[in-house]
Amino acid sequence: MRRIAIYPGSFDPVTNGHIDIIERGLKIFDKIIVTILRNPNKKFLFTIEERIEMLEKSLKKINNVEIDTFNGLLVDYALKKKSHAILRGMRALSDFDYEFQMALMNRRLNREIQTVFLMTGLRWIFTSSSIIKQAAEFDGNITGMVPPIVNQKLKEKFGFNTKKHGPLAS
Ligand code: PNS
Repeated sequence: MRRIAIYPGSFDPVTNGHIDIIERGLKIFDKIIVTILRNPNKKFLFTIEERIEMLEKSLKKINNVEIDTFNGLLVDYALKKKSHAILRGMRALSDFDYEFQMALMNRRLNREIQTVFLMTGLRWIFTSSSIIKQAAEFDGNITGMVPPIVNQKLKEKFGFNTKKHGPLAS
């Protein structure tokens, strides 16, 4: 039996912290489906197409990863994909409340599906898409916190010179 995990999120944009969780997840699952929530009510910096493109380019060297999008309840999507595991990354304590609530709600909605938390590497403990966007908006140097394609797209989005901070990868 192939063990498949669903790794859901907004990925607005994908960060090196997300990639770290995917790589760790692949040590215990045979396949990970990275899936982006299609939520028309939430405001995102990047369109769904841009987020898919960044994920595809950032994950192209990693095997056994599928990129997808979903609507509606995550537990329904997981079952449709024949998965019984939702993968989430846990950073500092601040994540705990939100993650705990979501995991308990998902368990209540479907007891067949378990949430699996993996701790991010210490390097990424304070890395989040929103904090990266805040820095990038004012041309802060985010090299090494996001894949090169994301660094480039953030600079383009905020209208900055892609050469200023040197090579986009650390
Ligand atoms: O990256 P994010 O924004 O923290 O991801 C949140 C996400 C997409 C995992 C969450 O909002 C979600 O699963 N939404 C789908 C709706 C759902 O199933 N809700 C019930 C659990 S609270």
